[in-house]
Amino acid sequence: MTSPTLTRRGLLRGAGTASVLASCAKPNADDASNAPAVSDATAPAEIGPGAVSVAFNLNGKPATVQVEPRVTLLDALRIDLGVTGPKLVCDRGACGACTVLVDGRPRNACMMLAHDVAGANVTTIEGLGAGDSPSALQAAFVRHDALQCGFCTSGMLTSCAALLQRIGPNGAKLTAQTVREAISGNLCRCGTYPHVVAAVLEVAGATPLSKAAVTP
Ligand code: FES
Ligand code: FES
Repeated sequence: MTSPTLTRRGLLRGAGTASVLASCAKPNADDASNAPAVSDATAPAEIGPGAVSVAFNLNGKPATVQVEPRVTLLDALRIDLGVTGPKLVCDRGACGACTVLVDGRPRNACMMLAHDVAGANVTTIEGLGAGDSPSALQAAFVRHDALQCGFCTSGMLTSCAALLQRIGPNGAKLTAQTVREAISGNLCRCGTYPHVVAAVLEVAGATPLSKAAVTP
């Protein structure tokens, strides 16, 4: 099912514009402009304001959630689906703690509406590996001490997983600079960056791995 493309920013901008226009409008029964608007076939279908069902693929399995159009993907995951790996920290697209993969690309789930991912493949940290069967990347994070408090870790891991998928068989050519760029949207207050870079380079098979190669 194709869903109208919505963004949180677009929704708010639309609401603001509608309020301004409404306050400027002068009611006049004789004014032909008060006639009902002719429907625009190109306009996206309206949904809501009540809860509407949205279906997508979550960590390889079909998922359906009933949410109002204003609900972010992050809230739908954490509150409605109980998938709490993506973290809510800044709630404004600044820290990357909520990073998930949407069709393989890292996205801030706090800046997307749940209805934006209708029909898409969404991957969270839960889809990368589990406690008893971690992915190679997660195991490398542990080996390299690439986490402390853990608040940034799920977002950091999903960004790194996207990079490794993107680079594929060319992992040996991966550079520390490329890893740093891939995690530039993921803030870590504990300063684990050099350890994250070392873990990713190791999993990619990039060598040599010297201290100078991973220090920012
Ligand atoms: S919580 Fe989404 S970017 Fe910070
Ligand atoms: S491990 Fe604490 S914020 Fe990154």
